[in-house]
Amino acid sequence: MARVFTRARPRWLLVILGFAFIGLQLTNPAHTNPPIDEARTIQRHVALPPEVSAVFTRSCNDCHSNETNWPWYTYIAPVSWLTVSYVEQGRAQLNFSEWGSYGEHMKGSRLRAIRAQCESGKMPLPSYARMHRGVALTRDEVQTISAWTLEEGKRLTETRPSVLGASVRYEASSRGSSVSVMEPPADR
Ligand code: HEC
Repeated sequence: MARVFTRARPRWLLVILGFAFIGLQLTNPAHTNPPIDEARTIQRHVALPPEVSAVFTRSCNDCHSNETNWPWYTYIAPVSWLTVSYVEQGRAQLNFSEWGSYGEHMKGSRLRAIRAQCESGKMPLPSYARMHRGVALTRDEVQTISAWTLEEGKRLTETRPSVLGASVRYEASSRGSSVSVMEPPADR
């Protein structure tokens, strides 16, 4: 009797684990790709050189646009919790599909943040870059992105003189560089 029990136990354990795993799948958060309004995309609002656009598409869009590529494993809990949360946080901070809805100050602060994140190697997220071959930025690409953010920032201030009045400071937060903009009233 005792022998039967010890032999059977591992199988029961597997069955229980199997059910637990299936149960876990019920906790999958929603994977979204909100509809894209072409009029609001970054392509419509700034002069995006093809090499910059290519980097954004390849290395940033999964978390910073409404065109997220959701491979099958992002539907498996607990991986799904992590990927969905990255995308939600990423979109909240910077969404290329919603660029047109940003005010001038937000645009300026996003440009500076893009430059800071790329130059410090914080984006694309290292954990993502390890999992996806070829998404990490080369040194040349970082330079291209940096130069573009400066150029675009200049164009922004030239076309919108109000931005010149904003005092901007860079702060080193515990997480690294975060950019904060002290905004003059009523332009957002
Ligand atoms: C795997 C998802 C992922 C990818 C890919 C990714 N990011 Fe992010 N990004 C995030 C997350 C998550 C945050 C929010 C981080 C936080 O709040 O600490 C973020 C934040 C940012 C911010 C805001 C930082 C700030 O301090 O305001 C910028 C700018 C940014 N990312 C730029 C980029 C650029 C440029 C790329 C491509 C080269 C990129 N990201 C690729 C997930 C990603």
